[in-house]
Amino acid sequence: MPDPNRFQQGSFAPVTDEVTAFDLPVTGQIPAGLSGRYLRNGPNPIGLDDPNYHWFLGAGMVHGVRLRDGKAEWYRNRWVRSRAVAAALGEEWPSGPVHENMDFAANTHIIRHGGRTLATVEAGALPYQLSDELDTIGPCDFGGTLPGGFAAHTKVDHASGELHAIAYFWAWDHVQHVVVDAAGQVMRTTDIPVPDGPMMHDFALTQRYVVLLDLPMTFSLGAASAGRELPYVWNPDHQARVGLLPRDGSAAVSWIPVEPCWVFHCLNAYDDDRGRVVVDLCQYSQSFDVSTLWAAHGPVTLDRWTIDPAARTVRQERLDDRGQEFPRVDERVISRPHRYGYSAVTGELTRAITAAGDFPDDAFANALIRHDLEHGTAEVREFGRDATVGEAVFAPAAPDAAEDDGYLLAYVHDPERGATDLVILATQDFAGEPVARVHLPARVPLGFHGSWIADS
Ligand SMILES: [Fe+2]
Repeated sequence: MPDPNRFQQGSFAPVTDEVTAFDLPVTGQIPAGLSGRYLRNGPNPIGLDDPNYHWFLGAGMVHGVRLRDGKAEWYRNRWVRSRAVAAALGEEWPSGPVHENMDFAANTHIIRHGGRTLATVEAGALPYQLSDELDTIGPCDFGGTLPGGFAAHTKVDHASGELHAIAYFWAWDHVQHVVVDAAGQVMRTTDIPVPDGPMMHDFALTQRYVVLLDLPMTFSLGAASAGRELPYVWNPDHQARVGLLPRDGSAAVSWIPVEPCWVFHCLNAYDDDRGRVVVDLCQYSQSFDVSTLWAAHGPVTLDRWTIDPAARTVRQERLDDRGQEFPRVDERVISRPHRYGYSAVTGELTRAITAAGDFPDDAFANALIRHDLEHGTAEVREFGRDATVGEAVFAPAAPDAAEDDGYLLAYVHDPERGATDLVILATQDFAGEPVARVHLPARVPLGFHGSWIADS
C-alpha cells in the first residue's frame, strides 16, 4: 500500500504563505498579445497535522499571474475562504449560501463565466467566487438559481456561451445536468437517475449530446463509517457504462455498457459525420481506488472512444500509451471536432498514484505533449527529471486565431531556484525553447486545473 503521507511531501507539499509580488523577472519575451490572467487551483491544507490527509480534500489555493503589455504584472496565491479556512486564518467568513452543510474551500478548478471568477469543486459543495485579484467574495449559487451542489469540471460551448456541468452528491439517487447561460444564471437542470451514488469527476460535450461516464467508483457508507476521508471506492458490482443525454433534454439517456475502467478527464468530444460520438480521454485501465488514490494497473493512457448510438457499441483505441494526465484542448473547440490536444507527463504524480512509476528515460519524467490527432503524431517538450510540470492550458494568439495558433501556459518547478516558473510555450514551436519563463518568487505545489482568462 502506498504511503498515505506522500501528498504532503516533495512537489505536493503545501506552502504556508500567501505572497503578492509585482513586476516579475522574465527570461525571454512575453507575447504582447497575451493580456489576461493565468489562474490555477489546487489543494493546500493549512497545517500538516492530519494523518489521514487526502490530496483531494486540501483547502483550495489559487495561484495566479497577471500578464499585460509583455509584462508579468503580478503573482498572487490565495486560499479560498471557506468558513473553516477563514476561521483558521482568524478572519471573518464572507458568508453566503451552503448546500447540505457541504461548505468547502473549492480546490479543483477555476473558471470565468457570466462575469464571475469561480473556484469549483464537486460532490455537493458550491463554487466560491473570487475577485480579479483572488480575494474571496463568497460562495456562489448563481444568484439563487442553482438547486443543489455544483461540479469541478464544466464545458462551455463557445458558440452559444452555455456552460454545462454534471453535479453529483452522495445523498442523491441521481446526477444532475446543469446548464448555466452566458449571463451566469442556471437556465435548465435535468435529473438523471443512477444507482449506487457514482463519482462523476468529468464528462464530455458534443453538439448533440452530453456524454456521461458512469464508472464503478461509488459512494461507500462502509468507507465513510471507517473514517475514510473520501468515501468513494472501487465497486465491481456497479456496471460501467457511458450515457448519451441529448443536449436539448428531449429524450432519456441512452446507456451503453463498457469494460470496467476509470476516467478522471476527457480531452474533448464531438459528433462525427456518421452519427457517432468521438470522445478522447485519459483512461486508467481496469480499476482505480479514489479513497487511497491508487491505480494497480498503470499507465494512464490517452484513448479514443467511438460511440455508435444506433449500434449501441463503444470502440476503444489507444492514441498514446505513455503515462499522461490533465488532457486539455483549445477551449474554443469544446464540443466540436479538434485536431490538437495537450497533456502532461508528471513523474511524481505517476509514481504517487500508479504502479507504473518507472520511467526508462528520466528526461521524459516531466514533459508536456502536443498531440496532432489528425496526423497521429505527438511532439514532446521535456523539462527534466526534477522540473515538475503540471497541467498546461492553451491561450489563443488572438480571439480568431486558428486552432493551435497560440501558447501553452504551465507552472513548472525549477529545482535550481527552488521556486516555480510560469512557462509560456509557442504551440507551433513546441519542442523549442519557451518564448518566456516568468520567475515566480515562490513554489507552486502540484495541483489540479486552471484557466487562461483573457481580458475582454
Ligand atoms: Fe479534474
